Amino acid sequence: MFLLDLLQTILLFKVPLLSQFAPPSRAPTSGGAFECSADAIKSLLPEGSKVLYASHYDADDSFTPPLEHNSGASRISSYVLPRSACVFQANLTLPGETEHSVGVVLPDDWNGRFLTAGNGGFSGSVSWGSIIDASWYGFAAVSTNTGHESSGAEWAYHNQEALANWGYRAMHDAVVNGKSVTEQYYGKKIAYSYYRGCSAGGKQGLKEVEMFPDDFDGVIAGAPAWWTTHLQLWNMIVGIWNSPAESLHHLSNEHIDLLAHEVIRQCDPQDGVEDNVVMNPDACIFHPEALLCADDAEDPSACLNTEQIKTVYKLHNDWVEANHTFVFPHLTLSSEWKWSGLVSSPSRLGTDYVKWMLQLGDDWRWEDWDPKLIQLSDELNPGNATTDDYDLSPFYNKGGKLLHYHGWSDWSIAAGSSIYFYDQVVNALRPKGINPDDFYRFYLIPGMGHCGGTSDLMNAPWVIAGDGQSSSLGRDGNVHSVPGHEDAKHDVVLAMMNWVENGTSPDELIATKFVNDKDPEEGVYRQRPLCVYPAEARYKGSGDINAAENWECRGYNGTDTGDNLV
Ligand SMILES: *[C@@H]1O[C@H](CO)[C@@H](O)[C@H](O)[C@H]1NC(C)=O
Ligand SMILES: *[C@@H]1O[C@H](CO)[C@@H](O)[C@H](O)[C@H]1NC(C)=O
Ligand SMILES: *[C@@H]1O[C@H](CO)[C@@H](O)[C@H](O)[C@H]1NC(C)=O
Ligand SMILES: *[C@@H]1O[C@H](CO)[C@@H](O)[C@H](O)[C@H]1NC(C)=O
Ligand SMILES: *[C@@H]1O[C@H](CO)[C@@H](O)[C@H](O)[C@H]1NC(C)=O
Repeated sequence: MFLLDLLQTILLFKVPLLSQFAPPSRAPTSGGAFECSADAIKSLLPEGSKVLYASHYDADDSFTPPLEHNSGASRISSYVLPRSACVFQANLTLPGETEHSVGVVLPDDWNGRFLTAGNGGFSGSVSWGSIIDASWYGFAAVSTNTGHESSGAEWAYHNQEALANWGYRAMHDAVVNGKSVTEQYYGKKIAYSYYRGCSAGGKQGLKEVEMFPDDFDGVIAGAPAWWTTHLQLWNMIVGIWNSPAESLHHLSNEHIDLLAHEVIRQCDPQDGVEDNVVMNPDACIFHPEALLCADDAEDPSACLNTEQIKTVYKLHNDWVEANHTFVFPHLTLSSEWKWSGLVSSPSRLGTDYVKWMLQLGDDWRWEDWDPKLIQLSDELNPGNATTDDYDLSPFYNKGGKLLHYHGWSDWSIAAGSSIYFYDQVVNALRPKGINPDDFYRFYLIPGMGHCGGTSDLMNAPWVIAGDGQSSSLGRDGNVHSVPGHEDAKHDVVLAMMNWVENGTSPDELIATKFVNDKDPEEGVYRQRPLCVYPAEARYKGSGDINAAENWECRGYNGTDTGDNLV
């Protein structure tokens, strides 16, 4: 036994990989070749690191991140480990005598690959759900709290170091040290590195592509909050347009609900298929006047007055300031189902941004809004978080792949901001002779909200294994990938792996809606292809509209060949 163990240890640590895809020759266990203890992990990390805890868990064990080290999490959840793994949290040093906290999951049955997960909002906690989900695939996975434990932004006040940590430094450091600890722990080189994030996490992925193009082979960026300098102000201005609550122009939740239903009623048939899904919201001609109150309306909550119609127009139109300055794109038709969360009052994503990141302090009130703040925001670009360096050629040149998606019915970050980003990248790369299609695929997902989900009315297909989606599936956090369809056509992680490792590009993905998201075993309700932007999925004209095979991608398909109308 002893000799065998010794032989295996030698094999693991000394012999170079025969095949990059070979599974580990021995599943490590706690107390085995790889020790999962605070002391053992500490010896793999740079000097000055603090291991907060490290323990080995068996598959199906439950892990609850300790509150004392995860106080910034909006809620502490328990997670079921899909595979046996070493789980640890450590604080690593950053410049200016600062630090960030990273969570790491190292599965025993490692797939030889590494995945970094992104954050949400103002970040401020390790994304445990995302990295535990990544371990289902066998990835060694890391997530950082970006340098602060907090859901707000007070930490950013007069603190340029903290802003730089949040903007890009902590993420890159988590990648570098996450890779190093992974390779030392398993005694093997990582075969491929991936990134998956949505919202703030989408932005962090794009920032990595722009600033550290060597960090990843494949980046999956969902609904990226990439235009920080304008997005945060837009998050607030839409609420200002709908304020104060007692004004004539205010849309209450009842009015928003009315509007949401009216949009589907008018727009759904315009795409040729009546299924409650608006396939291209920007192609719909919508008349909110259909909701106008008659002079003698008895129930003002069942119709809109002329001032409210003006608010609807503001929200459905691009934000443009003096001299035709385009600030941020419009909320899309079919995003109304969750507007109440965004426009009921001016969002803290904006007010906190102005107070703490633009440094105007706690006395600042949204009533003090001044369009000059847009200029100030552009000048400061706090933490250099905005990802507007559209020349992605370094990432392209090193062979990187980027998969970007955005819900057409996103109520939190207008879908048009992703369209704008994509177009800017195309504008930056085509003059360099680079066809973006060779390494960058962008998909709009009809009826999907922010990073996942859909309304009960639309019931649109949205499950693609994007970051955070598994947390909305199942009841006890033990659902991963796209249940029943764990393949490269339905799961963007597997699609990205197939693209990076086999060169098979994801020309067509399929999104899934389950009958019951809380119990995917009840079966699939509908599936539909997602098309490479700007192509759109069109119904072929016969067969079940809920079956993907009865749809095809039509229109310009994004390829710069001149012969690309399909
Ligand atoms: C770890 O770092 C976070 C900031 O990222 C800090 O809030 C926390 O206090 C640190 N924990 C320890 C034990 O030093
Ligand atoms: C708009 O442009 C004019 C002419 O260039 C300039 O004088 C004015 O200050 C601009 N207004 C704003 C709000 O930028
Ligand atoms: C800011 O980020 C961009 C990429 O988004 C990068 O090109 C630029 O060098 C960064 N600037 C600084 C000062 O770090
Ligand atoms: C690469 O292609 C082979 C053959 O189709 C397949 O078995 C394998 O799973 C693919 N690898 C990845 C990472 O998708
Ligand atoms: C787009 O169409 C062109 C021409 O038909 C084809 O060569 C290319 O592979 C297509 N690209 C995608 C992403 O479908």
